[in-house]
Amino acid sequence: MQNGTYLRNGPGVWHIHDYNFRHLFDGYATLVALQFDNGRLIAAHRQIESEAYKAAKEHNKLCYREFSEVPKADNFFKNVSDVISLFTGASLTDNANTGVVRLGDGRVLCLTETQKGSILIDPDSLETLGRFEYTDKLGGLIHAAHPIVTETDFITLLPDLVRPGYLVVKMKPGTNERKVVGRVDCRGGSTPGWVHSFPVTENYVLVPEMPLRYSAKNLVKAEPTPLYKFEWCPNSKAFMHVVSKISGKIMASVEVPLFVTFHFINAYEETDDEGRLIAIIADCCEHEADTTILDKLKLENLRSFDGQDVLPDARVGRFTIPMDGSPYGKLESALDPDEHGRGMDMCSINPSYLGKKYRYAYACGARRPCNFPNALTKLDLVNKKAEIWYDEGAVPSEPFFVARPGATEEDDGVVISIISEENGGAYAVMLDGLTFEEIARARFPYSIPYGLHGCWVPKT
Ligand SMILES: [Fe+2]
Repeated sequence: MQNGTYLRNGPGVWHIHDYNFRHLFDGYATLVALQFDNGRLIAAHRQIESEAYKAAKEHNKLCYREFSEVPKADNFFKNVSDVISLFTGASLTDNANTGVVRLGDGRVLCLTETQKGSILIDPDSLETLGRFEYTDKLGGLIHAAHPIVTETDFITLLPDLVRPGYLVVKMKPGTNERKVVGRVDCRGGSTPGWVHSFPVTENYVLVPEMPLRYSAKNLVKAEPTPLYKFEWCPNSKAFMHVVSKISGKIMASVEVPLFVTFHFINAYEETDDEGRLIAIIADCCEHEADTTILDKLKLENLRSFDGQDVLPDARVGRFTIPMDGSPYGKLESALDPDEHGRGMDMCSINPSYLGKKYRYAYACGARRPCNFPNALTKLDLVNKKAEIWYDEGAVPSEPFFVARPGATEEDDGVVISIISEENGGAYAVMLDGLTFEEIARARFPYSIPYGLHGCWVPKT
């Protein structure tokens, strides 16, 4: 195991004073660090000092709009000014509780769906360093929560709510300026589909247009609606667009079966025997075109498991996007979902295989009955088999793959996950990427809440 730090971000504080939040995604960001140092593990955690978090602490009330929470309007005029401030972004949260990425220049950035919720932290002390200011003039309020980050690039999508579509943008290491690569206009609906993540291949950026769309009407409501800031629009259909990374041109745009996904796993280019591009394959954690999962993530549901099997089904959805001008793409299960207990989300791959043909992915799976993914799974997408790690009462967070230095096999490395236990305890677990057997576990001396996404910061 190389020396370095695994950082994990996620909502961790779900209350202000005596007021309790309702949804998993509302919580104020808590960073957890596991520092690996010559076989020793040092753990730490710290709150991200976003403006939203600081204001809540100072005023003992919600001051910004979180995922499902809206500050109470004291009077009608205040409510009107809230609606105005929503469109300027002033009332939106900067609670960076979703992901954490290490940029090619070494800076470490915490992210959420609002652009203002891009916050730099110190990976050693976990101290909040301040807001990451985008110096371009691209504007907009939101972006994909999961950019594609490599040593040389940072690519993301900016949904355009005014002229429904998406800007594909990239930012070079060492800069804060995003440049436009291209633009995709929506083909269905009056607003863009929610884009939490997207995949890339070596030469293309894929822009998913999901029928779960941003909803202007739900955005301004003062109380949570069943789908929060979104709307399910099956009549608007679903599409996948393929944009050239170099020219920004749309190389393909196909209608695909309806889908619901938050996390793409990977994508790659499929060629024929002569090396000509025939299709693009893109895999995602797909929720059977059913939005129910969003409501299942309410805290009251998560905290009240009574043995009923209530976790909605999910699978590895594999898109095949023809590159010959055909108007339709396919969406199928990449393997039998029963292999991973029909639970599937929070995925990682060997980062060396980003955008390339790959075989293995790691994700949270399920052992039923359950109300939440309660297992870790290693997926073999060639042999169409899954292996499962399961510990009674454990709720594992995203299994994160770290390659062994010098490894030549795709799955040669370790998989790290932080486990929350039924009794409030927590431990970190390390699995062998090849065998998926447990190598080590380390117990925290106190509770660590469930969290979302992580990254690896190698020791320099
Ligand atoms: Fe995510």
